Amino acid sequence: MHIRVLGSGAGGGFPQWNCNCPNCSGVRAGLIRATPRTQSSIAVSADGDDWILFNASPDIRAQLASFPALQPGRRVRDTAIRAILLVDAQIDHTTGLLMLREHTAPWDIYCTAAIAQDLSSGFPIFNILAHFRGVNWHEVLTDRSDFAIPGAAGLTFTAVPLKSEAPPYSPHRHNTVPGDNIGVRVRDERTHGTLFYAPGLGRVDDEVFACMQEADCLLVDGTLWTDDEMIRSGIGDKPGSAMGHLDQSGRGGIMEHLGRLTGPRKILIHINNTNPILDEDSPERHALEAAGIEVAYDGMTIEL
Ligand code: MLT
Ligand code: MG
Repeated sequence: MHIRVLGSGAGGGFPQWNCNCPNCSGVRAGLIRATPRTQSSIAVSADGDDWILFNASPDIRAQLASFPALQPGRRVRDTAIRAILLVDAQIDHTTGLLMLREHTAPWDIYCTAAIAQDLSSGFPIFNILAHFRGVNWHEVLTDRSDFAIPGAAGLTFTAVPLKSEAPPYSPHRHNTVPGDNIGVRVRDERTHGTLFYAPGLGRVDDEVFACMQEADCLLVDGTLWTDDEMIRSGIGDKPGSAMGHLDQSGRGGIMEHLGRLTGPRKILIHINNTNPILDEDSPERHALEAAGIEVAYDGMTIEL
């Protein structure tokens, strides 16, 4: 299985357009050792020809341009993206669907009923796309059943319902339902390589932990180093936990859970612009390195 990180940043990307926190101003001015990041998305393929897009970020245009495999150029209008899988209905994961409206056929979109409902109500992208070529919605169940995606031969997918938050415009904001947020396990039937992808993870329960334990590679929530990071930076009034993101450094945080895993390669993704791990010389980044945890970057490729 080929995995390409298209965007490793959280909502807003890095640097964020209006942000002058030490990270954003530092990377803009070249004062810190850090790399800009676009918003959260990956692409996965068994054969390197046909790809499944996980989330469609507002930065999709630049992300496609950055990865020529997604434009094979076989016809006057063409793409190597066979289907799109959404893990939630957040702006950073879905707005790119609007940029993909020129597709010459309805998009095959795989997501849960809860996400499809958000995208047909609070953030009605599906309704808007109906005025273009439309959407073929394929329901992803949260009953842990495996599913296949035509066009992604050789890959098997499993949705894992996550404890996180529905977006602010969701009819089930603060009253989350299973399927508002999912992690996805992707298994390559030929190599048996397994990925667990969960860019928005509010809690690591036994099931999620077991899933991580069985995977060969994790791409998991790297949004915040501390729960109150955005409040302390003076740029937000919500802790990470209220946004459905478990922090890395706190008691019971992501690092603690990852520390108990021996098998998988551990990579953080969906990094918020306030997170000190973006500064490659920071003590926080060094602590991750010492714990054997990597930080995803745009253009990262992983083979499983
Ligand atoms: C989140 O995951 O909480 C987002 O990055 C929020 C957003 O896109 O605005
Ligand atoms: Mg996000």
